[in-house]
Amino acid sequence: MKTTNPMLLNLLLAFTLLMSRVKPDPDPLQDYCISPPPPPSDHQHIFLNGILCKDPTQATVSDFTTTALSKPGNTRVNPFMINVTLTTITNLPGINTMGLTMARIDFDASGVVPPHVHPRASEVTVCLDGVLLVGFVDTSGRVFTQELHPGETFVFPKGLVHFLYNMDSVSSALAVSGLNSQNPGTQFVSLVNFDSKIVEEVLERVYQINGRDVAKIRKILGE
Ligand SMILES: *[C@@H]1O[C@H](CO)[C@@H](O)[C@H](O)[C@H]1NC(C)=O
Repeated sequence: MKTTNPMLLNLLLAFTLLMSRVKPDPDPLQDYCISPPPPPSDHQHIFLNGILCKDPTQATVSDFTTTALSKPGNTRVNPFMINVTLTTITNLPGINTMGLTMARIDFDASGVVPPHVHPRASEVTVCLDGVLLVGFVDTSGRVFTQELHPGETFVFPKGLVHFLYNMDSVSSALAVSGLNSQNPGTQFVSLVNFDSKIVEEVLERVYQINGRDVAKIRKILGE
């Protein structure tokens, strides 16, 4: 009998291990799992990794459609001059367990989505209107940036710090993103630092600033 090439075996093993690690949210075991409306009492008793399913015979087409992304969000209520509108299991119950979220991102002139991460999703963005400067930083500190014009697309790998910026100081811009989790999670780097309950002394030490600087940055960030 011929002996199997150990190198080939090792390669196969490495490949299998790698493939088992690139998974989005778990696949549904049914056609769909529409999240039912919340119970009258808003006190949740059971905590699951996901949301319960509505009886499939009660599914209607409205469970699979939403107008949530049809209107621009108000970009004037936060200092970054942007507004992100998301599909959720509330406005689009049929998306439950599909491992998907869509986002509409409205930018006022010079609007910016500050550096942030999605711990549970990669994101692919299409610029629909205007000119955007987008980019991410990998774990070695390398920065990848690109100018996006209408119809052009960029992908942000899962968990990496990224940003989107409307380079135009006069016109607004619009982008749409898809994320491969129904609960991508978002952490803005600046807000995690300055709009959290992190002890001020830690911030002073890390950024080599004093209490007045901390207060000033918090005020700039709208706190
Ligand atoms: C986004 O826009 C909506 C509706 O226009 C508004 O209610 C909301 O406060 C805005 N959110 C942010 C974070 O600016």
